[in-house]
Amino acid sequence: MTQTIPSTDERIDREWWKEAVVYQIYPRSFNDSDGDGVGDIPGITERVDYLDALGVDVVWLCPVYDSPNHDNGYDIRDYRAILDEFGDMADWERLRDELHDRDMKIIMDLVVNHTSNEHEWFQRSRREEGEYADYYHWVEGSPDEPPNNWESLFGGPAWSYDEERGAWYLHVFNENQPDLNWRNPDVREAVKSVVTWWLDRGIDGFRMDAISHLSKPEGYPNGDPDEDGPLGSEHYTLGPRLGEYLDELGEVIPEESMTAGEMGGASAEDAREYIERGDCLDMVFHFDHLGVDQGGDWTGDDWGEWSLPEFKELMTRNQREVARRTWEALFLGNHDHPRIVSRFGHDDYREKSAKLVGTFLLTMRGTPYLYQGQEIGMTNTEFDALGEIDDAMTVGIVEELLADGAVDSFDEVREAVNYRSRDHARTPMQWAAQDGADFTEGEPWLAVNDNYTRINVEDAVDDTDSVWHHYRRLVELRGDDPALVYGDYDLLAPDDEQIYAFTRTLGDDRRLVVLNWSAEPAVFESAELAAADATVMIGNYDDAPTAPLGAEFRPFEAVVYEY
Ligand code: GLC
Repeated sequence: MTQTIPSTDERIDREWWKEAVVYQIYPRSFNDSDGDGVGDIPGITERVDYLDALGVDVVWLCPVYDSPNHDNGYDIRDYRAILDEFGDMADWERLRDELHDRDMKIIMDLVVNHTSNEHEWFQRSRREEGEYADYYHWVEGSPDEPPNNWESLFGGPAWSYDEERGAWYLHVFNENQPDLNWRNPDVREAVKSVVTWWLDRGIDGFRMDAISHLSKPEGYPNGDPDEDGPLGSEHYTLGPRLGEYLDELGEVIPEESMTAGEMGGASAEDAREYIERGDCLDMVFHFDHLGVDQGGDWTGDDWGEWSLPEFKELMTRNQREVARRTWEALFLGNHDHPRIVSRFGHDDYREKSAKLVGTFLLTMRGTPYLYQGQEIGMTNTEFDALGEIDDAMTVGIVEELLADGAVDSFDEVREAVNYRSRDHARTPMQWAAQDGADFTEGEPWLAVNDNYTRINVEDAVDDTDSVWHHYRRLVELRGDDPALVYGDYDLLAPDDEQIYAFTRTLGDDRRLVVLNWSAEPAVFESAELAAADATVMIGNYDDAPTAPLGAEFRPFEAVVYEY
C-alpha cells in the first residue's frame, strides 16, 4: 500500500481496505492486446503502470472466467478457467504479480448466485446425475404452467422449462443463468471450494455478485403484485436463510481479505445488518441513492430528473446508517449503470462536473470505487436501435415490453434505454485519439464513443489541468489524510438546492467539502458552521474562496478545505 496514514487515533479501527481506492475493470472493454476487438488480460497488464500512476490501490476485475458470454462473463461455465478470448491462467498470474509488485491488490468477482447453463454442474443436474440432481432449483409440473408467478430481473418469467429433465428451473437473471440451490449443502461446499481455490492463488478478496438473491423460500410462494419490482422479487431478495449462507461463506474467507457484496434490493439498514452480522462482508453495494433519478418503469418519460436535497438525504442516510457504524462502498456508477458524468454531471461543464463528482466520492467516509473511464470523464453514447445494444438486461426488458404489447416500437422506450442502458458504461476505454481509440487495432466488440478524439487518456495525462490529474491528486490527498478516510461525516445546509456541503472531523482535524452541484453560481450559507478561515486543500477552479461561508461558488465548483 502506498498509504501513509499514521495509526495514532485509537478510535480508528484501521483496515487496509478502508484506506484503499478501488479501480473497477470491465475486461472486455479495457484494452485489447491482440487485435480481436475484445479486451483481454495481457491488455490490462500493459496498463498496470497507468493504474499505478493514477494511484489506485486495488483492482476489482469483473469476471474473466470461462463463459459463453450471454451476460458478458456473469454466466460462468468454469470457475477455475480463464475465458480464451481473455488469455489463460499464466496471463492472469502475470497480471496479479505485476499488480502486487506495485503494491496494488486484486479482487475477483465471485458470481455464485447462478452459473451458466453450460456449466458442468447444470449439465449433470439436468441429467439428474447423482449429487448434482439437486444443485439447482427444479420443480416438476406441466410445461404450460410455471411453478409460480415470479418474474426475472432481466424481463420475462423467472422459470424456464427444461425439456431434457422435464422440469422447470429458476433463474432470477437470464434463462441461461440458472440459480444455484443454496439450500443444498453440497452446493455450499462446492462454492466454498471455488473461493478457497482463488484465495490460494493469492488474490486479496472478492466482489460478490448478486449476493442478495442467494436464499429462496421453501415452497416458492407467489409474488405480490402490490410489491415494488419484478413479481416475486420480495421472495428471492434478502431471503430467509441469506444470513446463514453468508456466515458459512465467511468461514473460508480470511480476516485480511477484502469483501464487497452486491446487494440489489437492500436498504441502508439491510446493508448494515448483513455487514454487522459476521465475517463475510466488509461492505455492501446497495442502491437506494441510484434510484434518485430513475422515474417510473421503462415506459415512463420522467427520466433523469433529480433533486439535490433528496440526493443529500439518501447519501447522508448511507453515511449515518452504514458508513459511520460499519463501512460503506462509495460509488455512483459501475458496469451496470450509465456514465457518471452524464448522469450526475452536466454536458456543458463536463470537466468541472466530472471533477466535482470525483471530489465527492473521494471525500466521503467509505471505500471509493472508480469505474474505468470515470477518471477521464467518459460520457454516455447514443443508441438508435435495439440492434446496437448488447446488454442482456436492456434487450430482455425491451423485448418483453414489445412482446407484451406494452410498447409498439423501440422509439417508445428510446429515452429510457438511452438513459439507463448498461452499455453506456461498456463502450471501450478511450486511450488515445486514434482509430479504435487505441483500445484495439481491430473492430471493437461494441462501438467506441465518437468523442474519443476529445476525451482520451493520452490527452488527459498530458494536460495537468485535466479530470485525470484531478482524480490523481484526490487519490493522493485521501491517502495522506486520516480525516478524509476515517473522519465523522456531517451534512451542512441540507435544504440548499445547489450546494452539497459536509464536514469530516477526526479529533482536531477538520475538513470542509463545498460542492456547487449546479450550473449557476451559488452562495454557501450554513447555519451549522461558524465563520472560520480555511485553507484550500484542493479545488477545481483557480482561486477558490478562502472564507467559504457566504462566498459565491462558481458552476460545479468543488473545494476541499482544512479549517
Ligand atoms: C450483477 C452484475 C451484473 C450481472 C448480474 C447477474 O448485478 O453486476 O452485471 O448482469 O449480476 O450476474
